[in-house]
Amino acid sequence: MKTLIQKQIQVAKDVYEFLFASYSPKTEREASDAVGFNFLLHWFPVKITKKSLSWHYSFWLGTISLVLFIILSLSGIVLIFLYVPSVERAYQSIKDIEFVVSYGWLIRRMHRWAAHFMVAFVFFHMIRVFLTGAYRSTNVTPQGKRYANWIIGIVLLVLTLLLSYTGYLLPWDQLALWAIVIGANIAKATPIIGDQVQFIMQGGNEIGQNTLILWYAMHIAVLPFIVTALISWHMWRIRKDGGLASVDSLGVKKEGGEPVKSKTYSLMGIAKGVRPSISYHKVAGETVHAIPAVLTRMMIVTVFTVGFMTFLSIFFAVPLEEPATTEWTPNPAKAPWYFLWLQELVSITTIRVPLINLGIFSIPPFTINGGFLGGAVIPGLVVGAALMWPQFDRSPESAVGVWFHKSRLKQNIVFLIIVLALAILTYIGTFMRGPNWGMFLPWESWPSMPVNF
Ligand code: HEM
Repeated sequence: MKTLIQKQIQVAKDVYEFLFASYSPKTEREASDAVGFNFLLHWFPVKITKKSLSWHYSFWLGTISLVLFIILSLSGIVLIFLYVPSVERAYQSIKDIEFVVSYGWLIRRMHRWAAHFMVAFVFFHMIRVFLTGAYRSTNVTPQGKRYANWIIGIVLLVLTLLLSYTGYLLPWDQLALWAIVIGANIAKATPIIGDQVQFIMQGGNEIGQNTLILWYAMHIAVLPFIVTALISWHMWRIRKDGGLASVDSLGVKKEGGEPVKSKTYSLMGIAKGVRPSISYHKVAGETVHAIPAVLTRMMIVTVFTVGFMTFLSIFFAVPLEEPATTEWTPNPAKAPWYFLWLQELVSITTIRVPLINLGIFSIPPFTINGGFLGGAVIPGLVVGAALMWPQFDRSPESAVGVWFHKSRLKQNIVFLIIVLALAILTYIGTFMRGPNWGMFLPWESWPSMPVNF
């Protein structure tokens, strides 16, 4: 009887294995290796070229951005338990996090510093990708679609800005409130649908509880979810595109031309599968095993990034101003630094025409709001140009994955001029704008102005 039951159990196990499993670990060590390697080998190929590991090709800026996003997600999860998204209690809950909760100040600082740094590093990463012409594929990686990753990247950059901006409102202090007022006013200048855009942004006719809950939901759920999905897609694409673009400059044709279907993975024994093998360059001495080569470097990048963010957070506080009030307006009221180029653009494209007296009749003074030109048209053109750029890049394939290739000189100069213009506008907005948005040199003191009640 017993043997019959044992036999039936064995048959059931065989059927299960046949249907679902391709591998059963024999020991705990094997099981944990299976988890670790399955995960990591989905991320990295088995072998990788030494060239793509180089520090001075990518400066690992994408990986740093990823580590910052992970710091933000982890510290953000802790903050969710402590923060109360209500206009009556939000400010006080941030004060509690700062002054009452054990190490709350550290978690909040890490979160806020990492948010600033993520914006900056994603931007640096984009500059690196552009200057190495890494948004294109070559005949070495014919299945590659690096252009797709460039587009995913631009969306990620925009979403990173939005993630940061939605978080800016949550402390519900003066800094937050007025930064949002400025954003909403710029949005209002959109032609035809301006009022509707402002309404959606505010979650109603005015900034209040609805705005806070809307931005909170976007900040903790919707945007992080989309960004996580897009980052995963971005990383997956890098593998599908045959690795980093620097590898293409080895000039080695992928063996066999078309991708070969090969049984290469089994996900924890649950799913079996085949996928096209990705190109890697079987050139003697050019490749190393991804584990531990990539893993070690990723660990170094992670330790340095986390270490630096911790150091910064221990020694440098983050702001929390007076509770938000519409009773008085700070002067000047500024957007967060990463949108100051936009606020500056709106300011310089706002044209105030004085009274024009033509003798027979006169034209009364009027103002052309820069919100449309500076706040919508110019930024829209910049993003549009960034999305389309790879289509018009006619440089030879030998320029792909190479820093400052001479054939890309002109386009690199145009690109750097745009980057420089953004940096200068941000600098002016941050350091040179004083009361009534007047221009002050960094060493000039601001006149004492009554606050605008
Ligand atoms: C949340 C934001 C982002 C994350 C976490 C991320 C992550 C990464 C990582 C880890 C890499 C591998 C190389 C490296 O470490 O530098 C990479 C490569 C790449 N990224 Fe991003 N990235 C982000 C945003 C962007 C943006 C804004 C762009 C461009 C607009 C972009 C375009 C690309 C391209 C084209 C590659 C392939 C580069 C090559 O082949 O050399 N990414 N990204």
